[in-house]
Amino acid sequence: MIACIGKNRAMGLKGKIPWKLPVDIEQFHQKVSGHTDIMGANTFKAYQTTKPSGNKWIVVTHEPTTVPPPAIAATSIEEALEMSKNDGDIYVEGGGQIFRLAMPYADVIYLTEIDHEYEADTFFPELDPNEWELAESHEGHDDTFEYPFKFNMYRRKRVEQ
Ligand SMILES: NC(=O)c1ccc[n+]([C@@H]2O[C@H](COP(=O)([O-])OP(=O)(O)OC[C@H]3O[C@@H](n4cnc5c(N)ncnc54)[C@H](OP(=O)(O)O)[C@@H]3O)[C@@H](O)[C@H]2O)c1
Repeated sequence: MIACIGKNRAMGLKGKIPWKLPVDIEQFHQKVSGHTDIMGANTFKAYQTTKPSGNKWIVVTHEPTTVPPPAIAATSIEEALEMSKNDGDIYVEGGGQIFRLAMPYADVIYLTEIDHEYEADTFFPELDPNEWELAESHEGHDDTFEYPFKFNMYRRKRVEQ
């Protein structure tokens, strides 16, 4: 999974991301380029013009006929994962509803965390510390941005045998 969130786990407001952080968009494109991306119908509607040509896009929706090609529709997160099981790295890209559905299946979460509380109507789920550990963290730098932020990577904890 990959997302950028505020201090209050804010992710979206009225269909949009409530900030502009170019360096995060860059890292997002570097990571997902050439891979399979799974997203909810609301996120797809917001970003459907920006699909990189080498990526496969799977949109989770109850209304599969509403998804135009080249994106493809899945009617559950399980169906989306089944459709991408031979695709190598798969990135779940949101939004809030789809992150909740995908959380039990995720191994790694790339989370850019901004040290500022934003007004939002969509939030990233809390990570259970019994299940997730911070594996990597580094400060981000972007002269155009007013708040500190970190690029964090969380990994699912291994169950001890
Ligand atoms: N900050 C970030 O990194 C980031 C990343 C992505 C998105 N966002 C923001 O997040 C917001 C969108 O998130 P969201 O939570 O509103 O929507 P979403 O997760 O993108 O999509 C929700 C839609 O997914 C479909 N869906 C949900 N559960 C389903 C299920 N069990 N089976 C089949 N389909 C299902 C439904 O589509 P149908 O109604 O078509 O059935 C539902 O309306 C926007 O503000 C966006 O800008 C932020």
